[in-house]
Order: sequence, then structure tokens, then C-alpha cells
Amino acid sequence: MEFEQVRKLIHGVPFISEDQGKMLYEFIRAGGMKECLELGIGHGVGSCYIGAALQETGGKLTTIDRVSAKEREPNVEALLNRTGLESVVTPVYEPNSYTWALLRMIEEHSVEGVCTPYLDFCFVDGAHLFEPDACAFFLVDKLLKPGGWVLFDDLYWTIGSSEFAQEEWAVKLSPAERDQPHILKVYEVLVKQHPAYGDFRITGQWGWARKKGSSEGNVLDAIGAHETLAGYLKRYLRPWKRRLKKLAGFYGS
Ligand SMILES: C[S@@+](CC[C@H](N)C(=O)[O-])C[C@H]1O[C@@H](n2cnc3c(N)ncnc32)[C@H](O)[C@@H]1O
Repeated sequence: MEFEQVRKLIHGVPFISEDQGKMLYEFIRAGGMKECLELGIGHGVGSCYIGAALQETGGKLTTIDRVSAKEREPNVEALLNRTGLESVVTPVYEPNSYTWALLRMIEEHSVEGVCTPYLDFCFVDGAHLFEPDACAFFLVDKLLKPGGWVLFDDLYWTIGSSEFAQEEWAVKLSPAERDQPHILKVYEVLVKQHPAYGDFRITGQWGWARKKGSSEGNVLDAIGAHETLAGYLKRYLRPWKRRLKKLAGFYGS
């Protein structure tokens, strides 16, 4: 399915933007990806963009969320029905977390205690919390082929600035846990320090990394996905903005 077709069919549904959808679509097509995974379905917008590209490459997507995602209006099933991508995208629901589904996938792809990696790409756009997503990274690593890519959304999202900020569990957290971006920590500390990963790149809110071991070219270069100057400045200035805000709060109190 062409990008314009899928874009029109899902126009206006949250969460990812049309520009992000275009980047995902072009990335999957240009990379000729076949086996993809998404952690965090939401309404299924990313699933549709990835699915449309996979229809062209002959690939498939597994996308995982909590059972509660079925209650979304529209839900991924409705969007897949609208786009006709049901045969390309398989939604999987877990009562608690995609980490358990990942464990099951590792077991299913293991023979005599050795897991055979098969994934070309994993889009991590779920909890945005350190514990599930740090765990998810190491689980996904076992499933990701050499040369495969992992992409983290919402690098800068924080609990303190989210709709969860006043919830009981969020109020009990340390200031660092509330105000530091968990996904950025996963990306900077776990992914970038992992000796098996390289080709790190940040585009907007997204952090990309590629598992080493393939001689193929960098598909991000092929599609012209680079960090813009505005994005770089925003990223560079963000920690300073946070410090200034804190300081203003300190002197204001
Ligand atoms: C921002 S939405 C996903 C957006 C989606 N990728 C898109 O393209 O629009 C995040 C989703 O992650 C799910 N989620 C959060 N924590 C999760 C967990 N531990 N296991 C499974 N799903 C989770 C939420 O239920 C929510 O639907």
C-alpha cells in the first residue's frame, strides 16, 4: 500500500504524527524489512504505517499492548479493518506487560537453550518507564538479527510532566525518577553502551540504534533521516532549561 493511501485512511488518529509515519514507512520499505515488532499499539497508527510498508516488502508485524488497548476508540482492529492490513499486522494482548510476551517469543525461537534472532526492526513506544523498557531492550536484543534496528519513541518524556504526575504511584517516586526522561536513560546508558550496537542517531523524539554485524549500508542515510539543527539545539538546551526551571523554583519559594 502506498504511503498516501494509508495516511488518508488513518488521518487524525493519535498518537504518532504523519511525518513520523512517513519516516517509519520509508525506513521499512527502503530497508526491505520483513520481520517487525512494535511495543505499544495505542490506537494502531504506527502499526498501520509499518504494516502498509510491510505489505510492499512481503513482511509482517507483531504489535503488543495491554488488554486495555482493545477499549480504545478506534482500536487497532478497527484501523486494520479500515486499511485492509489485517493479514500483515497481528495484535497481541498481555494482561500486564509486553515483557512477558517477549519472554514467550524468546522461548518460541529457542532450540536447546539457544535463541535464534529473527527480527529486522523493533519500535519501542509503550510504557516509557525505565523498568519495563530497560528489560524490553535486553529481551528484544535476543530476538534482533545482526544489522537489525531498534527505535525508541519519546526520548524526552517524563512522568512529572505527564498526565500521570498526580497519580499515587507517581507522587511517591524520587525527584529524579519523576523528572528525568526514562527512555533517554535507556537509550544513553543501556543501548549506547552496549558493545553490540552502533549507528546511533536521534531524529526529533526518536532514538535509533542498529545491531552490529551486517555489511549492508545504513538505511537511515538512504532515506535522508538526519537530526535537524533545530532538533540538535533543542536536545542540547533541554537539560539547561530543566536546571533553570529548578533554580527559578528554588529562588521563587
Ligand atoms: C503512546 S501509546 C503507543 C502509540 C503507538 N505506537 C502509535 O503508533 O500510535 C503507548 C501504549 O503502550 C501501552 N503500554 C504501556 N505500558 C505497557 C506495557 N508494560 N506492556 C504493554 N503495553 C504497554 C499503553 O497501553 C499504550 O497503548
